[in-house]
Amino acid sequence: MKQILLDRYGQPEDGLRCADVPDVGAPAAGEVVFEVLAFPINPADISFCRGTYRLKPELPATPGAECIGRVTAVGAGVTHVKVGDLVINLQRENWTQERRVKGEDVIAVSDGIDIQQAAMLRINPATALLLLTDIVPLKPGDWVIQNVANSAVGRLVIRLARPRGVKTVNVVRRESLFGELKALGADVCVIDGPDLAEVVKTQTHGAPIRLGLDAVSGRATARLSACLAEGGVVCNYGSMTSEDPVMSRSALISGGLSLVGFILGRGLATRSLDQIRAIYADLGQQVAKGNLSAPIEMIYPIEDIKEAVAHAQRGERSGKILVAPNGPV
Ligand SMILES: NC(=O)c1ccc[n+]([C@@H]2O[C@H](COP(=O)([O-])OP(=O)(O)OC[C@H]3O[C@@H](n4cnc5c(N)ncnc54)[C@H](OP(=O)(O)O)[C@@H]3O)[C@@H](O)[C@H]2O)c1
Repeated sequence: MKQILLDRYGQPEDGLRCADVPDVGAPAAGEVVFEVLAFPINPADISFCRGTYRLKPELPATPGAECIGRVTAVGAGVTHVKVGDLVINLQRENWTQERRVKGEDVIAVSDGIDIQQAAMLRINPATALLLLTDIVPLKPGDWVIQNVANSAVGRLVIRLARPRGVKTVNVVRRESLFGELKALGADVCVIDGPDLAEVVKTQTHGAPIRLGLDAVSGRATARLSACLAEGGVVCNYGSMTSEDPVMSRSALISGGLSLVGFILGRGLATRSLDQIRAIYADLGQQVAKGNLSAPIEMIYPIEDIKEAVAHAQRGERSGKILVAPNGPV
């Protein structure tokens, strides 16, 4: 079978190759084997390949934080999934054609779901949900501001905020995105820049903003924090600039703002397996109904992994880059 191997940390397309490796073999008791139908290339995967992610295993290693698969065999004692089921995998190393994992690591998703969207179910929808539930208690009428609003996470935040009555200010890098974000339910859309706080104040008529979601870092964190009401919270959950977040002392001391961090794994670790399965059952249904989705720009075969990761690093994409390791999905 084919599997992606990272031989050296650095520029991702230089360090990755598509290798022929032995098949995974039959499942032992309690294990599940599934074929990988599709996986996305997320910013965290790029950072993993660069060697700047929190996990830096010995090489060669196989990247891939998420995927959608179809079960091809189950070991003795596995009852919660069966052959033919679509599953997401809670474990990594998914840039491959086939996986053999512990049964408890896979969660079945409804067969009616769009396979391409299901490939992106594990990380970004749950991230968007927990950013809205776990950082500050939000009630209907509250305002949230976020940058990278046109990213997959950003779009999901807009979709999940709307039914909660939470209003969103959406910061992006180009005006041409305003129409599609407003169609998703964005209340206000603005362009990032030095005058962000004044523009946001005008657009929101000075409404207090309690939470800022930042995945750009660097000075962008300071610009976002300048939009928050006294006592507000900036949650840093990514760094598209590869910089550390910057906040002014006056925002922290005089403004009483807090800067906190979020990572999905820690958010899920506070929950039981049953609670995690319930979260994915709900998000999976919303994806199956089309309520939650992320646009896709291109799907590559696994052999073209270098082109795929190079594409995933381009700015101003219209959507995510996916790989379909076992043929078109
Ligand atoms: N902490 C967690 O648990 C967690 C989980 C999931 C995702 N994340 C983070 O969430 C962020 C979004 O992920 P995603 O998968 O939704 O992304 P995505 O769909 O691949 O979109 C990438 C986004 O980053 C923007 N961007 C790229 N380079 C930038 C720069 N130098 N300055 C400002 N914006 C830039 C792009 O804007 P343009 O269209 O203008 O290029 C686009 O909005 C990433 O930082 C990711 O690491 C964190």
